[in-house]
Amino acid sequence: MNEPHNHTINNISDEVKRILYSAEAGHDWWHVFRVWKNAQLILSKEAEANGLIVELAALLHDIADPKFHDGDESLAPKMAENIMRKARVLPEISEHVINIIKHMSFKNQWDGLSWTSLEMQIVQDADRLDAIGAIGIARAFTYGGYKGRIFLDPDVPPIRKMTKALYTSSASPTINHFYEKLLLLKDMMHTDTARSIAEERHRFMVDYLNQFYSEFGFTPEWVTSQ
Ligand code: ADP
Ligand code: NI
Repeated sequence: MNEPHNHTINNISDEVKRILYSAEAGHDWWHVFRVWKNAQLILSKEAEANGLIVELAALLHDIADPKFHDGDESLAPKMAENIMRKARVLPEISEHVINIIKHMSFKNQWDGLSWTSLEMQIVQDADRLDAIGAIGIARAFTYGGYKGRIFLDPDVPPIRKMTKALYTSSASPTINHFYEKLLLLKDMMHTDTARSIAEERHRFMVDYLNQFYSEFGFTPEWVTSQ
């Protein structure tokens, strides 16, 4: 990465750190930091990708997550655009980054929108790696606690036929989120680098769930039938 790019990235990472430092622990500056580092690692194996676009999208992807802003999906692209304009990012780079931010969320798979790019796939993989493994477990329970959810209810099975409306309005126990999202991610990775890291983190979650049920006192029927 050349000097002016480094300068831009440093400026923008400082701004994101300032804005997200005290956010919910699963979507705070440290989540962005981990996604940024994951993205740099994947980028080192993907020679074709535009590094500036990947790093800016990783830094700005959760600048205003709709679930913390009454479902408003327009705020994040607007904030990202302003931050990039202030940092004098070229319009064609900024437009690509904004497209990534608009399209990369897990819930957008049900939108039927088909926009993608190699750079988006890298940032999506980087974000999804932070949703699984030890950190993924911590993030799920942090979000569940933030929303006042219980851990597990054997009478509330995970939703099998998911839609965007069901996903965003769900108030299910936190364990359900493993079956509705987290355990699905390893097969949704785009890059070989992310896929191999995901395998290990996935195994850790499966072990964790087995231990969880053994300490809880029972395994819900729907677990064995997944
Ligand atoms: P994306 O980051 O692709 O938009 P989500 O907003 O669905 O995906 O989720 C981001 C993270 O927020 C999840 O990986 C998880 O840590 C947490 N989270 C979201 N929904 C739930 C939920 N229902 N229960 C527990 N954690 C959740
Ligand atoms: Ni994220």
